[in-house]
Amino acid sequence: MKIFKLKEELISYLESQNSNKTRSFVPTMGALHGGHLSLIETAKQNNDLIICSIFVNPTQFNNSTDLEKYPRTIKQDLHALSKIDCDIVYLPEVSDLYNKNEKLKFYDFNGLDKFMEGEGRQGHFDGVATVVEKLLRIVKPKKAYFGQKDLQQLQIIKHITIQLGLDVDIIGVPTKREESGLAMSSRNKRLSESDQEKATLIYKTLQFISKNKLNYTIKELKQICIGKFEYHPELDLEYLEIVSIENLHPIENYKEEGNNAACIAATISSVRLIDNIIF
Ligand code: PAJ
Repeated sequence: MKIFKLKEELISYLESQNSNKTRSFVPTMGALHGGHLSLIETAKQNNDLIICSIFVNPTQFNNSTDLEKYPRTIKQDLHALSKIDCDIVYLPEVSDLYNKNEKLKFYDFNGLDKFMEGEGRQGHFDGVATVVEKLLRIVKPKKAYFGQKDLQQLQIIKHITIQLGLDVDIIGVPTKREESGLAMSSRNKRLSESDQEKATLIYKTLQFISKNKLNYTIKELKQICIGKFEYHPELDLEYLEIVSIENLHPIENYKEEGNNAACIAATISSVRLIDNIIF
């Protein structure tokens, strides 16, 4: 497994590789878990050269404490990546991707950032888009893999790559879950076993929504599900939305099968969790 810290070195190595090899890219912020590794496993099934980046991107954090507190486990991450035969890891410092005093770039997301994660996190998606654009221009992959767990991020990245005319297929990978149904996340480590058990209400509620689509209207389903959270005050529900997958706007009537998503954000013991189901 090759490791590069400088973009120039990565670019010249990639240029020296057989151009018949399909280049696949999995960007991450590290603290790797089964969810991240499932993106790499999926990429490996179809492609030749797998590149993974690990970079805690400062421009997507809303406050410096969150950025500082973000877990950094480089040694374990590299071990996990070499075990699953990742070919190349790009591990840049901030200075390799950002110029000093670089201004944040603002994108037109065509309203995809209006609700849910976009509401309380001003500039978050501009930060994500900025770093993803930079990384895609360096790595120039044929395919890039992102998790459906961060559905809004996935849809926004699909949108900007088309808008920017980048020649890359953005592929969404289903959410990897613990046996309990809890979506894998680096934040789960900060939860006690009992909180992890309580947090399974999130996925149970999402499943309830997808199974009961024919039995209730959207308005009724939302009311029932918000009620479920009221019985469990230890889980502080921030939003529960049923949206069209196409524009991520809340809907009143269901779209065609596979074009609806239920999305939840909730906090337990100061740990904010998000999850969704497509139905
Ligand atoms: P990070 O949170 O490290 O996630 C990296 C990728 O892993 C994202 O595409 C995310 O959706 C995916 N992922 C996380 N948990 C998952 C799970 N349980 N199942 C499947 N995929 C999962 O998302 C980011 O980093 C950053 O915003 C990034 C895109 C790297 C830009 O900085």
